[in-house]
Amino acid sequence: MTTTAQAAPTAERASQSPARRRVFSGVQPSGDPQLGNYIGAFKGWVDRQDEKENFFCIVDLHTITVDTAPDDLRRQSRELAAALFACGIDPDKCTLFVQSHVAAHAEACWILNCVTPIGWLERMTQFKDKSAGRESVSTGLLDYPVLMAGDILLYSAHEVPVGDDQRQHVELARDIAARFNRIYGETFVVPEAVIPDVGGRVMGLNDPRVKMSKSFSHVRGHAVRLLDEPREIERSIMRAVTDSGNEIAFSDDPDRAGVNNLLGIYKVITGGTNAQVERDFADARGYGDLKRRVAELVIEELTPIRRRYYELMDDVAELDRLLAVGADHARSVSDPKLTEMKEKVGFVLPS
Ligand code: AMP
Ligand code: TRP
Repeated sequence: MTTTAQAAPTAERASQSPARRRVFSGVQPSGDPQLGNYIGAFKGWVDRQDEKENFFCIVDLHTITVDTAPDDLRRQSRELAAALFACGIDPDKCTLFVQSHVAAHAEACWILNCVTPIGWLERMTQFKDKSAGRESVSTGLLDYPVLMAGDILLYSAHEVPVGDDQRQHVELARDIAARFNRIYGETFVVPEAVIPDVGGRVMGLNDPRVKMSKSFSHVRGHAVRLLDEPREIERSIMRAVTDSGNEIAFSDDPDRAGVNNLLGIYKVITGGTNAQVERDFADARGYGDLKRRVAELVIEELTPIRRRYYELMDDVAELDRLLAVGADHARSVSDPKLTEMKEKVGFVLPS
């Protein structure tokens, strides 16, 4: 990864390969990035950056849909950018930017709001989960999937790599694109969610029935955080909840979800098949051995990432410069699409 290189000029980058498929994905600067983010999202983004034309967005507008302290948001936005570059996102190959740096996202959201029936939003399971039991929720929380649709549609993305939990939001983006196209004429590419098979859902180490999440990454033993020291990683994995058996094999039995989760993590990091992974553990002596080997592998994978992260965080000016380059390139793609949307709905364009 080169973080000091100047990104190629916009026009040159855009013309690199017109046939390459566009990819857009976003991640919220909330909580500490954890192994689920890495395995379900970041690793795949990095692995595919040569094949596709990629846009990755730190979605701070999404984060303020729930109470967020301003200082935390500012710090976590930079930390997430550094973590993504540290995972191997290459600014010469990808466009990594902060959503609020590109005004088109908020503007597109407004226009798309006006073609989106409220009922579509009230149906979203994430909205129902996040609003359950609360006396008051922000309008932004309900509108969150429309903002997300705008993110994707502004870049004419064909593919949207996300974890399983975001599938419904990408479906909604498709519905919104199709409806806008029907009302105003062909405008948007109808995007598709790309969900990894295994690792689409990394489960909590302390409770393999719930997804590993940034929101619980402060809970002891729940997650491996991307920047955890080796000792912490080892402790969390060695304490992972398993079952009372001793068979090391993939399984969809909910009682064996803990072992399945550890094998899934191992599989994604090694890139092997189920059979290869099971063969690797054929000589293992019980779950203790399984945990030890998974811990070693995760430590080996995350150690260089942690080192690069601290180097980047030592030079915030350089980090901000990289994000400014990303935002410039993002605008060069999203601004013309926003202008097209404005034209289609009948706004008088400024001369
Ligand atoms: P979030 O942490 O919810 O902002 O999610 C950022 C990205 O990571 C999204 O693509 C999520 O679907 C993915 N992701 C988050 N947690 C997990 C997990 N436990 N397993 C797999 N993917 C995840
Ligand atoms: N809602 C997504 C999440 O919480 C983040 C996101 C925002 C996103 N905009 C996006 C993901 C566009 C993919 C495409 O994980």
